[in-house]
Amino acid sequence: MTVIAIDGPAASGKSSVARGLARHLGFSFLNTGAMYRAVTWHILRIGVDPESPTAVARGVAEADIRTGFEHAHSFIEINGLRPYDQLQEESVNRSVSAVSTVPEVRTRLLQEFRRLAAATPCVAEGRDIGSVVFPETPYKFYLDASPAVRQQRRNAQGQRDEVAVRDRIDSSRRTAPLTIAADATVIDTTELDLDEVIDAILTRLLARGLSTASERA
Ligand code: DC
Repeated sequence: MTVIAIDGPAASGKSSVARGLARHLGFSFLNTGAMYRAVTWHILRIGVDPESPTAVARGVAEADIRTGFEHAHSFIEINGLRPYDQLQEESVNRSVSAVSTVPEVRTRLLQEFRRLAAATPCVAEGRDIGSVVFPETPYKFYLDASPAVRQQRRNAQGQRDEVAVRDRIDSSRRTAPLTIAADATVIDTTELDLDEVIDAILTRLLARGLSTASERA
């Protein structure tokens, strides 16, 4: 199993970096944040209170969840529906941290992440990828940026998203909080553009013996 773990707080650039890195390496992109968002979207759609852990746990237990890779990008289907644009809606932004604190939600998705990565080399992004989901991978990165820059990035995407509020909940929850794995390389992206971050990670991966798609061709 080969997994590159990319963790970090909201709007630290994880998704764009992980997607670009996966393309360079010829790996698939496992977007775990999108999966937590999809479960949140489902919970809201079926009228369950996202702040009630027991109701959320029941909602996820009863959901028919299917995940996979398509065109080297992870997808999640819940009760036959695949949300895309809905994942960035303000209602999802507002409730995703609460839904993600529910242990039953995490256990369910963790099984999916491990099953997906067992079959396909991937770059996985999230909050607990290096610390909990794939602690055995030697390739762990933690992206950070100043809170002001992260909020600016979200606003520039035209999204209403209180990143500081999500960070507080994501970092203080009991199950698998946002933490920096002891063996992760921390990269501060405040002053870097996307290509610079990808280059910094690629340089470290190559130094550790990982080969790129073009080298393997
Ligand atoms: O990366 P993102 O903003 O799309 O993530 C949305 C939320 O999902 C985030 O606020 C917390 C949760 N999440 C998580 O708890 N664990 C992960 N591995 C990924 C995301």
